[in-house]
Amino acid sequence: MVVLGIESSCDETGVAVVDAGGAGLPVLKAQALHSQIDLHQAYGGVVPELASRDHIRRALPLIEQVLEQSALKLGQIDWVAYTRGPGLAGALLVGAGLACALAAGLGKPALGVHHLEGHLLSPFLSDDPPEFPFVALLVSGGHTQLMRVDGVGRYALLGETLDDAAGEAFDKSAKLLGLPYPGGPHLSRLAQAGDAQAFKLPRPLLHSGDLDFSFAGLKTAVLTQVQRLGDGLGPRRADLAAATQAAIVDVLHAKCMAALQATGLRRLVVAGGVGANLALRQRLGAACQRQGVRVHYPELHLCTDNGAMIAMAAAMRLRADLVPEQSAYAFDVKPRWPLQEVCA
Ligand code: KG4
Ligand code: ZN
Repeated sequence: MVVLGIESSCDETGVAVVDAGGAGLPVLKAQALHSQIDLHQAYGGVVPELASRDHIRRALPLIEQVLEQSALKLGQIDWVAYTRGPGLAGALLVGAGLACALAAGLGKPALGVHHLEGHLLSPFLSDDPPEFPFVALLVSGGHTQLMRVDGVGRYALLGETLDDAAGEAFDKSAKLLGLPYPGGPHLSRLAQAGDAQAFKLPRPLLHSGDLDFSFAGLKTAVLTQVQRLGDGLGPRRADLAAATQAAIVDVLHAKCMAALQATGLRRLVVAGGVGANLALRQRLGAACQRQGVRVHYPELHLCTDNGAMIAMAAAMRLRADLVPEQSAYAFDVKPRWPLQEVCA
């Protein structure tokens, strides 16, 4: 069973083919990605209309590319999966429209996938895939959630951010430091040369006793420091970047350990763009090793948005019999879509 996956929820056009025909986990055959970072950089953030138009330009050539790479013909595709939400409505519509038109043309079913389920299941494409059950930390540009995952479609929300997402905290702080969009990786690189102790920044909700997060106050604290430093910011940028990253990592680390303790589970999965952050990986790696907890990540290049995770989530849903028998080609998208709604 061959699944084509199309991701277009934000600023990356991703296409991939996964083969779910074997006995083991579905296998990634090929994937191609076009990032719109250069397109949006001048605006300091994603411009939705430009994103939609670029997805239109990129999607078909990327499909041709993955077919060529995987030596497959269009007719060999059994399912066409696409990101149905959450994300930018116009951007989602490009992927959904294309996927449903292609599926209809081929006489094959189409399947709308939840973007966060894609992130959540992306570590199953790695060389060290997890086993159920596990605690998942989903940290992306739009979401910060801790979840108990007992199987495909069996997700229980343990806690989430009350305001900004962790990626948003990285991006907004980076912008204040004069770094280009998307700021997370830039801030992280700058932080390597800085002293995290040089600034005292808040760790919101660190001792709240629950598994929720809040990052809006951190951004405000960074803004206050930037304003206080004024022209003196230049030489202190690396220190402020390091202090910001340390505050975010501290909170994510503490809540992960609390979630593991609360659930009694011994396995942690970290997925989503911020999962690429090396400081976070080091911190969680050390803590989990001390506690005898296994940590799993997607491959570094599959942490941020991609088509492989969408094809994989579709393939795992199909394997778990969680897909309706037949699928219509009339499509809608869900810009806001709680993950709980796709639970079995
Ligand atoms: O999962 P993703 O590609 O898109 C969403 O679904 O939102 O995540 C993008 C987010 C951005 O906020 C970006 O700055 C952040 O992930 N990010 C990082 C790193 N790489 C990506 N944040 C911190 N350190 C990184 N190395
Ligand atoms: Zn994402």
